Amino acid sequence: MVIVAPSLLAADSGYLAEQVALVEKAGAEWLHFDIMDGHFVPNLSFGSHIVQQMRPRSKMFFDVHLMVENPFDFLPMFADYGADLITVHVEATPDLDEVFTYLHNHKIKIGLSLKPSTSATEIEPYLDMIDNILIMTVNPGFGGQKFMSDQLNKIAQIKQMIGFRDITIEVDGGINLQTGAECVKVGADVLVAGSAIFKAESPEQYIKQLQCLGEK
Ligand code: DX5
Ligand code: ZN
Repeated sequence: MVIVAPSLLAADSGYLAEQVALVEKAGAEWLHFDIMDGHFVPNLSFGSHIVQQMRPRSKMFFDVHLMVENPFDFLPMFADYGADLITVHVEATPDLDEVFTYLHNHKIKIGLSLKPSTSATEIEPYLDMIDNILIMTVNPGFGGQKFMSDQLNKIAQIKQMIGFRDITIEVDGGINLQTGAECVKVGADVLVAGSAIFKAESPEQYIKQLQCLGEK
């Protein structure tokens, strides 16, 4: 089965708790929090309080995507508020080791993300220190963008690079049933979807259809 991670960025902010309950009831395993600082990406989104307030309301695996400069500065608050996985961008800091050490010591899963323009070789040195790779299939900063199919080769390349390591490949941006199927075919394990789920006629149905993409 494919793991589905609805992105809260596309949810109706006026009914956030209800939207979280809806996707959880539909069987989504992960909840994807897009955190933006207006510097690393040209947009602002949520602060850590969103994790703090959603934590007591949900049993889902909290997948925090930090699209911020100097991500190390933000780790304590997201760690304290209940993140299960924190993903930082390889482009966002020269000192990934301090990030990995902090997350390891706090028993939080470690994710590394790369923008579409960043080559897969950039993350090769870190493969033995991470649990998840978040491959951006849009330029980070906004939901509702078009899937960049030129990233499919990178997914296949990273799948190959990982070998037998226990690392999940997560894809993020423009994911729907069609693009999600293409990503799963070349090695994706986790599908982040915002607009496709929250704008669907039936988000519950949509989540179940995405989960079935992994069935051979
Ligand atoms: C973009 C975010 C994505 C985005 C996905 O910077 O990282 O998670 O919200 O949204 P959709 O699925 O609408 O492309
Ligand atoms: Zn994201």
